[in-house]
Amino acid sequence: MASLAEISTAKHVLDPMCGVGTILVEAAMEWPHATFLGIDKSESQLKYALDNVKKAGVMHSVALLKGSVLDLPVVSESIDIVISDIPFGKKFTCSRDMKELLPDIIHQMERVLRIGGVLVLLLSQKLHHHLKTNFHFKSDEIERLQVPKLDSPSLSNSESLNYKGQTATDKLDFPSLTHIESHSVSLGVTEAVFFKCKKTSQTMFC
Ligand SMILES: C[S@@+](CC[C@H](N)C(=O)[O-])C[C@H]1O[C@@H](n2cnc3c(N)ncnc32)[C@H](O)[C@@H]1O
Repeated sequence: MASLAEISTAKHVLDPMCGVGTILVEAAMEWPHATFLGIDKSESQLKYALDNVKKAGVMHSVALLKGSVLDLPVVSESIDIVISDIPFGKKFTCSRDMKELLPDIIHQMERVLRIGGVLVLLLSQKLHHHLKTNFHFKSDEIERLQVPKLDSPSLSNSESLNYKGQTATDKLDFPSLTHIESHSVSLGVTEAVFFKCKKTSQTMFC
């Protein structure tokens, strides 16, 4: 996920549902020049995250904060990379259906990303299908020439999915986000999808 998110050139990286901090810790060890912020609503998860951060020796570059992804305590357009593993509903139950929360979650992520920033999500196949069916992102067909080419992520069992032919009709619009790529990934017992977007224009705030 971190490779797909182009962290190598980033300064500020946010995981707004960081859990025990696995993604941030792995990324902080690989890219020590960046700063990482992990937010989670669960104090117990944050305690484990702090342990992991200490054990990995990345205290200098990782900060942890209690908060909600639905109301991020983060300045708009201040983050280069948002990377997150959205709860599948198996291990982490949510009081509301994730499908219901997803628009607000993505709006918050869109808000804090700077223009040119990258969003990478790990989604269940079900949630990815919901997103594909009900949400509208710009396609990268036009943007592709301007987007720096990434080295292909070495994902086993990966399959490129795209959003060609999509129309915005009746879909929830995220006008500042351009869909770059999606890849299927096997997590052993579960199949999931890496979903990558780039913020290509300013967010319109109402
Ligand atoms: C799938 S887990 C993240 C796993 C994480 N990648 C790790 O390494 O542990 C999802 C996390 O989202 C958190 N979460 C659920 N709802 C949230 C909310 N509204 N705001 C912030 N965090 C939330 C849960 O507490 C849980 O830690």
